[in-house]
Amino acid sequence: MSLHDDVEVILLDSQTVANRVAELGAQLSADYAGRDPVLVSVLKGALVFLADLMRAMDLPTSIDLMEVSSYGAGTETSGQVRILKDLSKPIEGRDVIVVEDIIDTGLTLNYLLGYLADRQPASIKICCLLDKPARRLAEISIDYRGFTIPDRFVIGYGLDYNERYRNLPYIGVLKPSVYGGAPPDG
Ligand code: IMP
Ligand code: MG
Repeated sequence: MSLHDDVEVILLDSQTVANRVAELGAQLSADYAGRDPVLVSVLKGALVFLADLMRAMDLPTSIDLMEVSSYGAGTETSGQVRILKDLSKPIEGRDVIVVEDIIDTGLTLNYLLGYLADRQPASIKICCLLDKPARRLAEISIDYRGFTIPDRFVIGYGLDYNERYRNLPYIGVLKPSVYGGAPPDG
């Protein structure tokens, strides 16, 4: 029994992801030349992407990590977000790049953007690895996007199902038999 057995299909293999992350890093390095942006990521899904992206950037960046959880009954993302771990330093006057793993409904990020904007950064841009537009509820303008993907539940490269599969080196579709029935909500 291997983790790979639960993968229906590999959507983006590790080389494809690495190539795209390198491109995003180069683009950010060019766009932010002469500045020192702070990369703000949300635990835990964006961790792997952040680790690779920051090493693809030739800039004096710093990083900060937040952890959030959705409020509300059931499994549906409510858009009401509780901050479990806040920024460790003020972002006032800083150029913020929010680094996210995947934008699905957009509700979590929508809340977070308001929260960050209240802290008066000089600028805020969004860099997400995966864009799943099919279920979008909050309009989000994505400045840097790795890939647009279909409405499938994906795992690997940081993304989990019940905290598992984050360490898969590629992005794959989880076999529906693993969660049985309706697809899990982010
Ligand atoms: P939303 O955009 O507020 O719906 O929530 C986005 C979050 O849900 C992401 O940061 C992920 O943690 C999680 N999520 C959404 N879609 C998936 C998926 O296909 N696989 C794993 N996690 C997902
Ligand atoms: Mg996330």
